[in-house]
Amino acid sequence: MTPLKYGNLQLKNNLVAAPLAGISNRAYRVLCKRYGAGLTYVEMLKVESFLHHNRKTMTLKYYREDERPVGIQFAGNNPAWLAEACRMAQDEGYDTVDFNMGCPVPKIGKCGAGSALMAYPERAAKCMEAMVSAVSIPVTVKIRAGVNDNCMNFLDIGRMAQDSGMVAITIHPRTRAQSFTGLANHALTGELKAALSIPVIASGDVKEPEDALRVFSQSNCDGIMIGRGCWGRPWLFREIDETLAHGRVVTETPDALERLAVLREHFEMLLESFDARRASQVVRRYATWYIKDIPGSAQFRALMTRVDSREEFHEVLDEVTEHFERAVGIPEDEFVGRRPMLATA
Ligand SMILES: Cc1cc2nc3c(=O)[nH]c(=O)nc-3n(C[C@H](O)[C@H](O)[C@H](O)COP(=O)(O)O)c2cc1C
Repeated sequence: MTPLKYGNLQLKNNLVAAPLAGISNRAYRVLCKRYGAGLTYVEMLKVESFLHHNRKTMTLKYYREDERPVGIQFAGNNPAWLAEACRMAQDEGYDTVDFNMGCPVPKIGKCGAGSALMAYPERAAKCMEAMVSAVSIPVTVKIRAGVNDNCMNFLDIGRMAQDSGMVAITIHPRTRAQSFTGLANHALTGELKAALSIPVIASGDVKEPEDALRVFSQSNCDGIMIGRGCWGRPWLFREIDETLAHGRVVTETPDALERLAVLREHFEMLLESFDARRASQVVRRYATWYIKDIPGSAQFRALMTRVDSREEFHEVLDEVTEHFERAVGIPEDEFVGRRPMLATA
């Protein structure tokens, strides 16, 4: 399979980690990349917040060189502002910019942005043209199937995107009205792929390597974007990559102890972006994802959702780790994975 190319940006494979508001912070992106994502995105930003440099935006858009290639995503409906934001993003060194026409949340929709903009194709086209002509880095767009069952205009918007110079398009084939209910209909992804010559990336409900194989063969898409499927298991990217290359997962799926070690590292990386108290609050949701598939972990989940300091996080994680070390019979002094990190706690 030919690796994805966004204009002049060559990716190492066909797998993209989705931009996720409230989730795709630096720690998350670094782990997605380490385990095989070919491209990651910082969290979606409202174009106004980005232009006005508000304090929260400064944290959200923080990335480091070792993350490359890294993209940024804007939601908005003002062509001039979007163009200016693209120029700033280019100056700030982002490798690519995505335009969000998929977000269904009211906070974005009431500003006429996100998937709400799909109801106004002419305005959408002006935004896309302004963004593309403002910069030399690749500009892409992410859309939904349409606004609702009576307005499934993904093909029209897709053609407009291509005509405006967008170098790739991602489709999450649910309507705005569906939000996250039902299933992503990747037959629609296939229709979009057949109608366009730019790369088409499929987003929605890829949770296992088999889902990726099914979506690729059903839609003939060029790449897959993964959101919820890799929460607490960033190695899903590697497993899909291996399945595409060899027809099966080659590297063993991390066991309980390795998952817990990755969670500990995830927390340490959150400390690069947040103070210790905030990091321990932010880590709660990730922690429950990392441990939810571990048999016998239910008793620890509630503890994880209450951690409120760096010390508490390490205490709870030590307890969970010791529980599973005993379960797999590893002698205490032979398991070194967590000691160096504990020393810094
Ligand atoms: C909590 C959450 C936040 C999201 N934030 C964004 C976002 O900022 N930008 C975006 O384009 N899509 C966003 N999405 C949509 C995902 O990128 C993706 O299209 C959707 O979840 C379907 O893919 P999945 O089944 O792999 O999660 C978000 C989804 C969720 C659940």
